[in-house]
Amino acid sequence: MTRPALFSESGGLVWHAKALLRHKSLWGDFTKRIDRFLADWRSVLAFGPEPEPTGLILLGPSGGWCLPTKGFVDAFSEVIAVDPDPAARAIFRRRFKPNDTQSAHTGGALSLTWVASTFERVLPALLIRHPHHAVLFCNVLGQLRYQDKKTLERIEFELGQISLTLAGRHWASFHDRISGEAKSANLQELEFFSTSTVTTNELAKRVAKGGEWLDHLTENVLPAQVARRFMAWPIGQERIHWIEAGWVEATPSR
Ligand SMILES: C[S@@+](CC[C@H](N)C(=O)[O-])C[C@H]1O[C@@H](n2cnc3c(N)ncnc32)[C@H](O)[C@@H]1O
Repeated sequence: MTRPALFSESGGLVWHAKALLRHKSLWGDFTKRIDRFLADWRSVLAFGPEPEPTGLILLGPSGGWCLPTKGFVDAFSEVIAVDPDPAARAIFRRRFKPNDTQSAHTGGALSLTWVASTFERVLPALLIRHPHHAVLFCNVLGQLRYQDKKTLERIEFELGQISLTLAGRHWASFHDRISGEAKSANLQELEFFSTSTVTTNELAKRVAKGGEWLDHLTENVLPAQVARRFMAWPIGQERIHWIEAGWVEATPSR
């Protein structure tokens, strides 16, 4: 990120001010859908064949405005959050109260470690240090196209490599796929499911009625055969983001 994280395109003080005003009202329907997605993922983690992860690595959580404050994060006894936004840590701690939260696993205090960095710099080391932690990309991967140091082709390539980096690991992501003006959106359906990949062209045909739509370069983040859901996120009164959400299960060989 080249701009100071306090005022970046995808986070910072303006983002927190908007999120504070909107997360319960304009975003309420969307955040409920994210709650359901995370609850479904948690059931898979809890009842799958592999031992249930007790740790979670959150990437780009910001203040956790799109995450449920109860029932998901606090189900893990150890949480590591990675976000370069200097304001996000205090807001996240205030919203999630990690030291006071009773962990479902240990009955003790939830431990939160905040890493003020981009995930690209620290994820490889975190994966080695915490081989069984689950990983959640929190609405961050669709924001990488705002980095101005790399070409869009390079960013799209790197996004397509993420599943290789996380092979053998429980991981999930919700991320922007396309965004555009609300007046150009077909909002007949606000959520739909697919058992496999949906190309950007297919998605645009389904959810847009003309206008210009920004491709967030995330078509290949989730492996092609992974089930996923799509949700409309009215980020402001005049703009809609279509968010894709899916999880990948750890392979039994781990
Ligand atoms: C759109 S906000 C995410 C919303 C957040 N999940 C929430 O619930 O409030 C994007 C966040 O990703 C962070 N971010 C952007 N690029 C990042 C990177 N490369 N690594 C980690 N975090 C990043 C930003 O600082 C910002 O806090």
